[in-house]
Amino acid sequence: MCGIVGGIGNIDFHNYLIEGLKKLDYRGYDSAGLAFMKGGKVELHRAMGKVSDLEAITPKFTGASVGIAHTRWATHGEPSEINAHPQKSNEGIFYIVHNGVIENFRELKSALRQEGYIFYSKTDTEVIANLLESHYKKEKDVLRAIEETQAELQGSYACAIIFALDPEHLYFMKNASPLLIGLDGEANYLASDAVPMIPYCNKFIDVEDGEYGRLTASDFEVYRDGKPQEPHYTERNAALLTHDLGDYPHYMLKEIEETPACIRRLVENYFDGTSFLFDQGMINALKKADYVLFLACGTSSYASEVGVRYMRELGKNSDAVIASEWAYDPFIKARNPVYILLSQSGETADLIHCLKIINERGGTSIAITNSKGSTIERKSTYACLLYAGLEVAVASTKSYADQVVFLALLKAAVEGDTDVIKDIRSAIAAQKTVIKQKEDIHEIAKKVKGISDAFFVGRGFDFLACKEGTLKLKEIAYVHSEAYPGGELKHGPIALIQPGTCVFCSISEERLSSQMRNNLEELKARGANIILFSRKALQKKGDAFSYPDIPEYLSPLLSVLCFQYLSYYVALEKDLPIDKPRNLAKSVTVE
Ligand code: M6R
Repeated sequence: MCGIVGGIGNIDFHNYLIEGLKKLDYRGYDSAGLAFMKGGKVELHRAMGKVSDLEAITPKFTGASVGIAHTRWATHGEPSEINAHPQKSNEGIFYIVHNGVIENFRELKSALRQEGYIFYSKTDTEVIANLLESHYKKEKDVLRAIEETQAELQGSYACAIIFALDPEHLYFMKNASPLLIGLDGEANYLASDAVPMIPYCNKFIDVEDGEYGRLTASDFEVYRDGKPQEPHYTERNAALLTHDLGDYPHYMLKEIEETPACIRRLVENYFDGTSFLFDQGMINALKKADYVLFLACGTSSYASEVGVRYMRELGKNSDAVIASEWAYDPFIKARNPVYILLSQSGETADLIHCLKIINERGGTSIAITNSKGSTIERKSTYACLLYAGLEVAVASTKSYADQVVFLALLKAAVEGDTDVIKDIRSAIAAQKTVIKQKEDIHEIAKKVKGISDAFFVGRGFDFLACKEGTLKLKEIAYVHSEAYPGGELKHGPIALIQPGTCVFCSISEERLSSQMRNNLEELKARGANIILFSRKALQKKGDAFSYPDIPEYLSPLLSVLCFQYLSYYVALEKDLPIDKPRNLAKSVTVE
């Protein structure tokens, strides 16, 4: 779960590699490194910590002909300088950066040890470097060495490779981790995604699983099993990949506040003013489906749960299952299921595993992702983009809202009901009102910033929003919290309520409002500190915050917005690294 970047040709490598890594550090940020070739020699710099730590120890350099760099989220070996990438082979002829996990690295390592190789790091990547060297010594040809190495590797990898005896080429290979080549007249580039390359190129090639090859400054070669391959050209919309923080202190805040604009853009892409613009084959598949199974992880899984409600309202059997669970227990409940896969990044490994199973079974899948060109987009039967623009903060915010709105549009397209557009417009206006009132939520956050535990309780849509609320509070503000349906606490967890226990609640569904308030009374009677976010029409004296009235089925767009602000401001008050919380990465590309 790392980011790689590389290039060859007339490039300001110092700037490209360092700035490129900063744009990729959503993929991991516990150590970073780079290597470049200059005057026939390779220079290597690595640092524990963030890309800024690497920048601090790397002398400004010019005149390099080829360079590679890496930002790491540790899988094998703790974060340290020695385990940072690039890793090099024993004789220093291969330098490699790697995103992925080599499953058989122990077996390969012991075979290489038999050959006399010594390992200095705990990484699986050093195994790849030495395996390349071992094959190169026999083959005397780098492309053959890569082919032989690929044949032995099991697992996922996107690698950029410097061969120290050849300053004219930058080598690469890929399987089950993303890798994109960027083309420009005077130089060629590669990276885990397009963002680092956007300032330099507008023509891209998707490297497919099993492919490998090499770049020169002006050309490229792609192979599979020794045979040249046709490149898979692809485009990226630069406007949707802007990485600019503007005047915001954090990406999370910027992305929360981009939500209304993202929803508007999403609607424009799927509704032309009179009709929905979905692929009719996809809508027909959904109409015919006797079961709709949502698969996703994290925030996307909570948006999926809203989707389940929508599908059930259409009269469909539907469930949402966490991808990492279904991947190892891939049940089928019906003859004609449709699988809906939600993923902001489109690269979540657990979900890719599910998609592989679905494809092997010849199933019909619909991918809903924010990432054009991602594995999940490319390998699904139908793929729909969220058009939310780049989401940089680890916490998913605007993508959640776009996922919920997309699912509402999808339901409406199946029923042929365009009233949804009016409802979504009212939700956009209501979100803008909440954004204007964010300081009220900041004040609430100031009062609760000291808590170490909390509950989130709600019923119906509000319970689904609470699940997302608790995830946000955990990952950004480091507060342990649990989400419960309002009626469930008295079946056990109420034992944990003591004077002062913080309970966040949302009430937006009228039919469930009085039951929920009764549940809150039970908690209050035991001393809980209730902080209630309610829909205006259901507001009562003492509620902490109220958000405007919108159709109830869209209420998670407002309750979750409030919870996003709550987590953001608690984290801000605690002076935490909001955009890059500890132990996490934006794109979870390992299982
Ligand atoms: O890219 P995806 O939507 O597939 O990612 C799923 C989760 O990893 C992601 O939502 C994660 O839980 C975020 N940190 C939530 O803010």
